[in-house]
Amino acid sequence: MSRTPIVAGNWKMHHGVAATTSFCEAILDEALPGGVQAVICPPYTSIPAAAMLLAGSSIGLGAQNVHWEEQGAFTGEIAPAMLVELGVEWAIVGHSERRAMFGETDETAARRAAAAQAAGLTVIFCVGETLGKREAGETFAVLERQSSVLGPLDPGRLVLAYEPVWAIGTGRTATPEQAQEAHAFLRERLRGAFGDAAEGVRILYGGSVKPANAAELFAAPDVDGGLVGGASLDAASFSAIIRAAASAPPKE
Ligand code: 13P
Repeated sequence: MSRTPIVAGNWKMHHGVAATTSFCEAILDEALPGGVQAVICPPYTSIPAAAMLLAGSSIGLGAQNVHWEEQGAFTGEIAPAMLVELGVEWAIVGHSERRAMFGETDETAARRAAAAQAAGLTVIFCVGETLGKREAGETFAVLERQSSVLGPLDPGRLVLAYEPVWAIGTGRTATPEQAQEAHAFLRERLRGAFGDAAEGVRILYGGSVKPANAAELFAAPDVDGGLVGGASLDAASFSAIIRAAASAPPKE
């Protein structure tokens, strides 16, 4: 059974309600191809507007983070069930910006992921090395450590995102060969954790994905779509990337 590609837009701290409304109106006017799961992950405050506008469409809705507790004294955090209540079905966990700027660790990311899955969300779990680690030849050691916490998760509600930190927001994209090498390594790690179920886990590439480079990245056998930052903010460029994923060879 082949893996349906996913193109997920991580809007980060962009697009309030007005801009989200304009984006949703524009994307609904695009003739999106079948065979690709498109997801947008707006800031929390824009989620209700997006949920209303995208209801009944094929575009899924995700959050950019989620807490592990159901409720309580956790100022500034959002519980999984609060997202589900809004129609959210996906949650990004462990993004490198959370790891670098907000104290996220492998352990806290794992707790978030488990709680999100328990509430019915599908987790997009991010891993990736910094430039320093790549240049020191430690890419695989970092990926091994970051993926070592995935074992207790449900592979049926898990998507992995390989996002080399040096490619995020820099315009410097991994080559398809670099992406495939990392994705193949991660697929092997998933086999170790989940056995045959690893073949069904989508592994997305993230880091300066654009309409101009999406097709060559998505052609790699273990690249099952993309997690897109800057280029997901505009409906025309986001839909061009979705079309690139639709034209990619099927992933077995
Ligand atoms: P850019 O596509 O802007 O490089 O961001 C990638 C990213 O961090 C997606 O989560």
